[in-house]
Amino acid sequence: PNAQLLIFAGSTRQQSFNRKLAHATAAIARDAGASVTVLELSDFDIPLYNADLEAEGTPADVVRLKQALFDHPAWIICSPEYNGSYTALLKNTIDWASSPVKGHPEWQDGTRSFRGKVVGMLSASPGALGGLRSQSHLGPLLTNLECWLAPKAFALGSAGSAFDESGTLVQQAHRDRVRAVVDQVLWAAERLQA
Ligand code: FNR
Repeated sequence: PNAQLLIFAGSTRQQSFNRKLAHATAAIARDAGASVTVLELSDFDIPLYNADLEAEGTPADVVRLKQALFDHPAWIICSPEYNGSYTALLKNTIDWASSPVKGHPEWQDGTRSFRGKVVGMLSASPGALGGLRSQSHLGPLLTNLECWLAPKAFALGSAGSAFDESGTLVQQAHRDRVRAVVDQVLWAAERLQA
């Protein structure tokens, strides 16, 4: 597979299970021959969205984020579940990244960095359902932005005992589920780009 895969988590917590899952997924995808970038949302200084801020001039880090999203045809998002949905961080990031950038030659159309992307959804939670309910909200959000969702997804339950100290997923069954999503995302992204 030669599609460039972007992976990011909807949590910036130091010990975030979803960040761990993002890095474990990157390792699995690299083993599968993919070229992978893990994006840390903590590396982007993005305020809470307000249209007045947008009118004053989109923050430079939002433009940088839009470019990173635009440059990768295939994404995997590792989404935590807060109150049965995805995190405010993820919503705020996506809202900014889908807004137009005043005066910018490429980003007059805000959703351009989303349209046609193939996205795989993963989630992790210490709970039994693995954050699955976050995906039932995140999916329609992404579809609304004209992303193509991979039919396969995976929710990692009991995340507190799923990783070893090096961040590897302990269970082969979990690694297989992640690999299946990776394979499907890359497969579809290559065909959509053709
Ligand atoms: C949670 N958590 C949680 N877990 C879950 O499985 N379903 C839920 O609805 C919620 N709701 C929820 C709300 C709020 C406000 C917080 C802070 C947490 C627990 C959550 O899964 C846990 O904190 C994870 O560790 C968060 O993901 P990261 O940061 O480990 O990636």
